[in-house]
Amino acid sequence: MVKNTELLKKAYHKIEESKDLIKSDYHRLKYHVMPPVGLLNDPNGFIHINGEYHLFYQFHPFDTKHGLKYWGHVKSRDLVNWEEMPIALAPSEWYETHGCYSGSAVNNNGIFTLMYTGNVKDEKGNRESYQCIATSRDGITFEKWPGNPVIHNQPKGYTRHFRDPKVWKKGANWYMVIGAQTVEEQGRVLLYKSHDIKKWEMIGEVTGSNLNNLGYFGYMWECPDLFELNGKDVLIACPQGLQPQGDFYNNIYQAGYFIGKLDYSTGRLNHGKFTELDRGFEFYAPQTMLDEKGRRILIAWMGLPEREDHPTIDYGWIHAMTIPRVLHLVGDKIYQRPVEEIKTLRKKPISYKQIEIKDEEIELEGICGDVIEILVECEIRDATQFGIKLRCSDDGTQQTVVSYDKLNNIFKFDRERSGKGYGGIRRCTLKRSQILKLNIFLDTSSVEIFVNDGEEVFTGRVYPDKDSKGIKFFAKGGSVNVKTLEKWEL
Ligand code: FRU
Repeated sequence: MVKNTELLKKAYHKIEESKDLIKSDYHRLKYHVMPPVGLLNDPNGFIHINGEYHLFYQFHPFDTKHGLKYWGHVKSRDLVNWEEMPIALAPSEWYETHGCYSGSAVNNNGIFTLMYTGNVKDEKGNRESYQCIATSRDGITFEKWPGNPVIHNQPKGYTRHFRDPKVWKKGANWYMVIGAQTVEEQGRVLLYKSHDIKKWEMIGEVTGSNLNNLGYFGYMWECPDLFELNGKDVLIACPQGLQPQGDFYNNIYQAGYFIGKLDYSTGRLNHGKFTELDRGFEFYAPQTMLDEKGRRILIAWMGLPEREDHPTIDYGWIHAMTIPRVLHLVGDKIYQRPVEEIKTLRKKPISYKQIEIKDEEIELEGICGDVIEILVECEIRDATQFGIKLRCSDDGTQQTVVSYDKLNNIFKFDRERSGKGYGGIRRCTLKRSQILKLNIFLDTSSVEIFVNDGEEVFTGRVYPDKDSKGIKFFAKGGSVNVKTLEKWEL
């Protein structure tokens, strides 16, 4: 077994030796959490503790492909400016030889506690899953509990695809949801309970494929999260194995939620339908936390499993986190809005009012850029279509188009001609309304679009040239009144 310190040294060496190459990449993001080198995937251990936000992430320092996972670590006072911290976990023990997989963080009476999955594979590729604990007094260095693992493998009837514990406290007890798979290859979320966070007993199945009138719903569910929002229980999960259905489930794996009521004695969630959290491209393994101000905040991996062909790999890194979003429950639908703090990034405001666009395409002085926020509210009068072309090149070859088709009430995010990287189109149906509100966040290689105050969100990575900064507004079949348009550099 390699010593912890050796593995850490190797990782820091890799970070150091890649610094110049990575810095030279134009597509390195300006206000998103990224790995210092290598690959980042799931957010882990998202928590607000002692006045600071901590975010950990699945981290493979040695390659832009998945491999031996560490826990990277960043912290922040405002969810916007993140400070890089020393690596929190490196695989060093027999129960995690093939990686410290995803998990969560809690404040256990002042003790900063992580719970994560130790991944082990034998020579034949067979897996073992161990749930483990690590604690910290200073929020910087984490020590693995000598009594680890706290859970040895899966319960009877399930396979070793058993991972990603998300822990919370209710009353005097700790609870945990964990992603699982039955021996019949049906995805599940299981509920566990503990008095001391070390001895755990399984309570039951929360839900899963072919339960609760769901029909077949995937062979494995990863990265579950369960929390209360406005008095209702919300389960987030990432089912694998769903087939695309029209505009739904178009990415390789899904990330969405169920609203219902959790029965803590049986573990069963009585729930409604599954709703995707993001209608764009790169979005997976979201994790939430309740901050000290009482907000339920979500952050997600702005990437997808098995999609490692992003152009940043030429510079030795891949993937990033989304911006943090606050969750609000409206009826049985979650609305997501960027955290208020992101407004502190706003610089050099430019605004317009009452602009009429009629069967034309226009540009507006000062409205362009690559690292910007746009807030637009418009009234779709008799136009059949309204849209914005982002990141346009001068020669017209590159553009990223967001548009609203009023006849069919469909919003569309089109990155077919965005530049390098994956193409594709994503669409969704909106609630009918005369007013369309868009809050768009552009970074050097990402787009996040909040539609109608968070009714829908579209996220995607795009890789236009550095000089593709043009923005165009268009209306077809009639007129649109842009009531207000604001733009900031970020
Ligand atoms: C989800 C996931 C988790 C696992 C981790 C490994 O993307 O597969 O289920 O814990 O990534 O990096």
